Amino acid sequence: MKITNILFTGRLVDELEGLLNAEEMLNGKRVRFVPDGEVSSEDLDWADAFVAFHPVAHFQFANLKWVHSLGAGVDRYMALGDRWPEDVLLTRTITSFGQKIGEYTLSYMLKEVQHHNRFQEQQGRAAWKMVAPRALDEVKVVVFGTGEIGQELARILGLFGVQVEGVSRSGADKDHFFRVMSLGEIDDSSLAEADFIINTLPLTKETAGLFDERLFGCMNQAVIINVGRGGTVDHGALLNALDSGSLKAAVLDVFEEEPLPADSPLWSHPGVTVTPHISAITTPEEAVVCFLETLDAVESGGELRNRVDVGRGY
Ligand code: GLV
Repeated sequence: MKITNILFTGRLVDELEGLLNAEEMLNGKRVRFVPDGEVSSEDLDWADAFVAFHPVAHFQFANLKWVHSLGAGVDRYMALGDRWPEDVLLTRTITSFGQKIGEYTLSYMLKEVQHHNRFQEQQGRAAWKMVAPRALDEVKVVVFGTGEIGQELARILGLFGVQVEGVSRSGADKDHFFRVMSLGEIDDSSLAEADFIINTLPLTKETAGLFDERLFGCMNQAVIINVGRGGTVDHGALLNALDSGSLKAAVLDVFEEEPLPADSPLWSHPGVTVTPHISAITTPEEAVVCFLETLDAVESGGELRNRVDVGRGY
């Protein structure tokens, strides 16, 4: 496919303009770098490729042949409706997200097993009380999502001897997972035994509200870490699960509404840690590398491992 007019917009637009122009990497293409709120219908009519984290207001497909998401998640594109045109290619960014999410996750797992909160509290009262840390190789983890990110996370946790089970749409075996269960056949006893439940799933029709009263009800003093999408979790059910002891704690990086509204009870619940969607930020440099590789593959007809299956929604 031949791409001529490329429209970049949204967060990172200035950085991308600087990097791409400085390197003269887009020689031969016509490009526009337009801030989010300033994209006009004329820009959208003009473009045959649209590159951004999510669609702009008044987005229209017009003459687009290719849409490239600067993030891993494409749910905001999918939310445009069921009628994604068959002839418009959708790709997403694949980069060091698995490594970043691995580090984010490990930091909170270690905080838990090394009792950081408890020792901090003891220090405040000059209390000397030994509590043995737990070794990571005694810890059981269930990772929801066995794609690029979930697999890299499982690989990293495996380096510490963590036993990782996976949950995916198909339940197909994947490297680094002790076993993989399908979404429809999650073994309740795995959830009951899990110390940590880590969610990396995309938001799709199948995963919306997946973590509900029933699923939380299977858990037993687990810590949930959500780095997937906020809409996969029923937050009312999560708060109940914290209060009933199904959950010991929740570490949440993603929310249905972002920024998380100031009046959300999640901010102040003692069992909840809120972070502002930082577990896998796309850097401008990474965005450029992935974009250029994808552009090359789009134009040369090469293999596109970051192509989104719009039927599946990820
Ligand atoms: C972040 O959540 C992304 O989609 O990259």
